[in-house]
Amino acid sequence: MTSWPADVGICALELIVPSQYVDQAELESHDGVPPGKYTIGLGQSKMGFCTDREDINSLCMTVVSKLMERHKVDFCNIGRLEVGTETIVDKSKSVKSVLMQLFTDSGNYDVEGVDTTNACYGGTSALFNAVSWVESSAWDGRYALVVAGDIAVYAKGNARPTGGAGAIAMLIGPNAPLVFDRGVRATYMAHAYDFYKPDLSSEYPTVDGKLSIQCYLNALDNCYQLYCKKASKVFQNNSTKYKVELRHFDAVLFHSPYCKLVQKSLARLVLNDYVNVSEGEVASRFPGLEQFKDVKLEETYFDRDVEKAFMTFSKDDFEKKTKASLLIASQVGNMYTPSLYGGLVSLLASWPLADLSGKRVGLFSYGSGLASSMFSLRVTGDGPALQKLVSGVSGVTEMLGARKAVSPAQFSEMMELREKNHHQAPYTPRSSPDTLFPGTWYLDHVDDKHRRFYKRTAS
Ligand code: ACO
Repeated sequence: MTSWPADVGICALELIVPSQYVDQAELESHDGVPPGKYTIGLGQSKMGFCTDREDINSLCMTVVSKLMERHKVDFCNIGRLEVGTETIVDKSKSVKSVLMQLFTDSGNYDVEGVDTTNACYGGTSALFNAVSWVESSAWDGRYALVVAGDIAVYAKGNARPTGGAGAIAMLIGPNAPLVFDRGVRATYMAHAYDFYKPDLSSEYPTVDGKLSIQCYLNALDNCYQLYCKKASKVFQNNSTKYKVELRHFDAVLFHSPYCKLVQKSLARLVLNDYVNVSEGEVASRFPGLEQFKDVKLEETYFDRDVEKAFMTFSKDDFEKKTKASLLIASQVGNMYTPSLYGGLVSLLASWPLADLSGKRVGLFSYGSGLASSMFSLRVTGDGPALQKLVSGVSGVTEMLGARKAVSPAQFSEMMELREKNHHQAPYTPRSSPDTLFPGTWYLDHVDDKHRRFYKRTAS
């Protein structure tokens, strides 16, 4: 390569979700919790889940196959493939290596990259790696492909309604319709036991729910403050000062463990802006919030007065900048690594093309343990590349509508089946593949050496 590739970003996107869901209002009644706890308190309407016919390998195989077919990308034209996941079926063999089965007919084995794991952040790390490869001296002119997928399941109890599942594939290259801003990424990493998976014989995590929320909000504060600082420098025009605040973004997307936390997070950005203005500006910029002038961010994670006041104040911004991005999160639940990028797909599928053109989108990625980053992208003009990318994800609403509702009792039985047979070998899944969407890869059987074999439903 003779020159630095321009406008590196996302050239195409493909998202898949399970073909079955459980209704959250029905789940409230089945679980015997007060009506509204999951639907209003957490802001969730449906939760997607996988039967024992799907695992992390099959989800990722499906999403890659669909992206390559829809966008007619030749497998020979992929030079790097990165997978971000926290759903582990084999401690040493990567999901990426399983995906190489799809490359066999092309004869292309020259594909860098393996898996990246840190809770819901692995997809973002994979994405950053892919962007770095395209921008590096190692780049050979081909696309990078990033896959983020997970099956999010919790033991019975208060965390169970925050499950979900899905996978996303993102084609990364130069001259992209969604271009990542350079020099502005802000990262916050620390050690915390808020959510982790120490029991390797179980799919379920060990969770400290309250701590995980505190860690998430603290990470958001740190990333946002740093992003604003870095971006203010990058975006200043010669000597004209430019202060990055919420108004810098046309849309802001968040990792979504549940939708209510995302609405609180948008309000949290306004709180960050509030603590950053001078005392003299408070009354004009934040009318009605003067009583919080001595507030300290680290003392407000669970301060209901502050939370309520800033949520009310930021309601219009939430409606304008974030609500559309929650389409998939509210209907599928926490997909873990694909969650943030499901927000991007939701936005692209919800806003008219003309409204997307030229807009700046902020993204906040969080993975327990903990790893987090805030970064941004710019949507280019509404040329053919953007039109193609958007038309590729526009069927998402139809896909959500085509899913089958399953009763909470059946959902619970399915969770028990997964629980009982997790890591069993040999094993042949009990669920019928007939309920899966067309073109879905599924687990046919696991042999006595724990080797997994897959088949695909007709397209
Ligand atoms: N009607 C309306 N709202 C209600 C009702 C009702 N009948 N009952 C309760 N609520 C509200 C509560 O007031 C609360 O809202 P608030 O937080 O705004 O006050 C909300 O519903 C949740 O209720 P809680 O009793 O606080 O929550 P619970 O103890 O059941 O657990 C939690 C919630 C912690 C999110 C749990 O589901 C969990 O541990 N999930 C997994 C961890 C997680 O998602 N963490 C987030 C970041 S890390 C990650 O992405 C994995």
